[in-house]
Amino acid sequence: MNTKDIDNKIPIYQLDSKEKVLKYYINWTKKGEYNKNMISWNYQAPQNTVKLFDKHAPNKDINILDAGCGSGLVGIELQKFGYTKITGADFSQEMLDLIPNNIYHQLELIDLNEKLKYEDNFFDAITCVGTFTYGHVKANALNELIRILKKKGLICFTINEGIYKKYQFDLKIKQLSDDKLWDIIDISKCSYIVNKEIEAWLCIAKKN
Ligand SMILES: C[S@@+](CC[C@H](N)C(=O)[O-])C[C@H]1O[C@@H](n2cnc3c(N)ncnc32)[C@H](O)[C@@H]1O
Repeated sequence: MNTKDIDNKIPIYQLDSKEKVLKYYINWTKKGEYNKNMISWNYQAPQNTVKLFDKHAPNKDINILDAGCGSGLVGIELQKFGYTKITGADFSQEMLDLIPNNIYHQLELIDLNEKLKYEDNFFDAITCVGTFTYGHVKANALNELIRILKKKGLICFTINEGIYKKYQFDLKIKQLSDDKLWDIIDISKCSYIVNKEIEAWLCIAKKN
């Protein structure tokens, strides 16, 4: 499947500014429509990501940032696997409002394309699922996520296949490895939005 096919799969993929994306989420969250779509489209990214993360993160008490947590689907999955200390962060208050109680121990409103308020080496691990996609979070945000991750900490994330090369995630991932900022443990294609025939790259890396 070429990237042109992916570009037109979902209306949100056409948006090119922060303002348009935020407005889109205001409407998408009305009457829980976002969560309903994720079920009917068979969105598998949270399950695939947490399954991979769990293979490499045996300590369940670690301090995890779920970056771009949205309505909490990744937090729910992390909790199923026994992780307890999860901070959720997103730039859409309307998405944060959909999160059930007692999933995250803390919720933050943040823009992942900006400098983050956390100190260096703050989190034990980071998940970032469904946010490296059209018009959302740019490849440069990976530098900031690595900065706030502890040494030897894990970062596990998806990248929509349609933007992987278009937004130069391939080059960023290689650069971060060449600069010895992280070691890639695993990167491979996985199912993502199954009923729309969209796949993603699923990556797990360890900070050096
Ligand atoms: C497709 S949803 C994925 C949500 C969740 N991680 C999941 O897998 O269900 C993408 C999320 O990224 C958030 N997002 C987009 N751009 C962002 C940014 N610049 N900073 C923080 N969050 C952003 C959106 O608000 C939305 O909640």
